[in-house]
Amino acid sequence: MDKVAIKDSKYIPKKAQIIKVTQMTPHEKFFHLVLEGGESLDHEPGQFIMVSVVGVGEVPVSVCSSPSRRGSFDLCVRAVGKVTRSLHKLEAGDVIGVRGPYGVGFPIRILEGNDLLIVAGGLGIAPLRSLINYVLDNRRDFGNVHILLGCKSPNDMLFVDELGEWQKRMDVHYECTVDNAAPDWAGNVGLITTLLPGVDIEPERTFAVVVGPPVMYKFVIKELLAKNIPERQILVSFERHMKCGMGKCGRCQIQGIYCCQDGPVFNYEKIKDLSEAF
Ligand SMILES: Cc1cc2nc3c(=O)[nH]c(=O)nc-3n(C[C@H](O)[C@H](O)[C@H](O)COP(=O)(O)OP(=O)(O)OC[C@H]3O[C@@H](n4cnc5c(N)ncnc54)[C@H](O)[C@@H]3O)c2cc1C
Ligand code: FES
Repeated sequence: MDKVAIKDSKYIPKKAQIIKVTQMTPHEKFFHLVLEGGESLDHEPGQFIMVSVVGVGEVPVSVCSSPSRRGSFDLCVRAVGKVTRSLHKLEAGDVIGVRGPYGVGFPIRILEGNDLLIVAGGLGIAPLRSLINYVLDNRRDFGNVHILLGCKSPNDMLFVDELGEWQKRMDVHYECTVDNAAPDWAGNVGLITTLLPGVDIEPERTFAVVVGPPVMYKFVIKELLAKNIPERQILVSFERHMKCGMGKCGRCQIQGIYCCQDGPVFNYEKIKDLSEAF
């Protein structure tokens, strides 16, 4: 292989510099980054990148910024193990490796012109923030927008400032709920499914987009179907263990479907019969 081919290989990570790091909750940090040379990441909402820390390893992470905000990109990372804890030790000025973007994101062209019911559980708000900010930056291309957010407690809430902005907007219906809260919490308490019956939608023109912990999907989808949203208009995004991120190693397979390449965003109608998916 000649030098140009090696440099441009999709297997070689590009360098990205951390511009800003913010501690969002005790477990999650926000990273604002730029690619070396000011190159654009060129991602779609819902896609992920493989992030590497030199000498430690590589992990898939959703891009949580909208592609409509060019020149930089954002990640929200929960520290759970070796690589994510190493990422949490990095500071502004440090450099990480980035491969991608990979995978199938949210089908923007199909969503355009329709109403959206966005349902985010916990860290699921990370890929959905990319979609939400894209929709808000192109607000006239979409119909009614409902955003429902659920998290364990008020202290686990991510992107708090932005949630406040969404709540204030007249062209967005935003509601959140927490599983547990101290008596001074004035908002909703209960699982995210408790918000769904009260949302007023026209099912035939609504696309539901659901991202959250595995346990959430079964119960949320049951409520969406009870609201008569057609199966083909329900979109979900899955997290599976990944190694290559691009359909080569088989690590992310769910009964023959490659989560990294065929997903992570899937149409519920197409995957509902995969017993290992839910
Ligand atoms: C498409 C996709 C998008 C993701 N987006 C984000 C994101 O935006 N922010 C974020 O914080 N995390 C995200 N993750 C999860 C992230 O990749 C894992 O937390 C990370 O790989 C853990 O690596 P580690 O070395 O820190 O931990 P390890 O030491 O490898 O594992 C620690 C724990 O995390 C579990 N784990 C490891 N990998 C995964 C995985 N891929 N999915 C679920 N659990 C895993 C392990 O089973 C173990 O319990 C995403 C995963 C996928 C597949
Ligand atoms: S992570 Fe290798 S095939 Fe999906």
